[in-house]
Amino acid sequence: MAARTKGQAPLVELTSGSVEETRAFGERLGRLLRPGDVVALEGELGSGKTTLIQGIAQGMDRDPGTVKSPTFVLVREYPGAVPIVHVDGYRLEPPATAASLDVELLFAPHKVTLIEWAERFAGLLPEERLVIRMGHVSANRRRLSLAPSGERPQAIVRQMASTHGPAGD
Ligand SMILES: Nc1ncnc2c1ncn2[C@@H]1O[C@H](COP(=O)(O)OP(=O)(O)O)[C@@H](O)[C@H]1O
Ligand SMILES: [Mg+2]
Repeated sequence: MAARTKGQAPLVELTSGSVEETRAFGERLGRLLRPGDVVALEGELGSGKTTLIQGIAQGMDRDPGTVKSPTFVLVREYPGAVPIVHVDGYRLEPPATAASLDVELLFAPHKVTLIEWAERFAGLLPEERLVIRMGHVSANRRRLSLAPSGERPQAIVRQMASTHGPAGD
């Protein structure tokens, strides 16, 4: 997986050439996540959001097989040392509003929250979050852009980039 850091901006772009690579990236990210962290995944159907979350769950010592797209439910929780809240906005009628959704229930300081279709929750997500935009490049290739918002997410991205080896143009 190739990593590239753009200038001074804490934005990292990667490509994944396979499901396994996306899972492995997620696993590495999962090992870095701490209680209270929020990861907001954006990108079209099939871009690999659920696959990435399976890797993150594995990195957080969960069986990745328990991670399924919540399809008909908005949220699932995977218990463990640090509980994982898996939110999927696929069925949300956009735009979601604070009135239609008890967003507060999705975030807790002792849990990690992972959100699919995060773009549908615009304005309702905590300011501090790690946004990951995903998209198709080809049948088996996906693009991932890491856009951290806030100090803690920036620290996570720095750690991710440093474990890639030298990042540069
Ligand atoms: N490099 C890759 N990373 C992730 N998924 C990939 C990749 N290449 C092919 N795929 C396929 O793309 C689909 C991704 O599905 P999924 O993770 O459920 O996406 P989403 O949750 O974004 O809809 C799966 O069918 C998977 O096999
Ligand atoms: Mg999904």
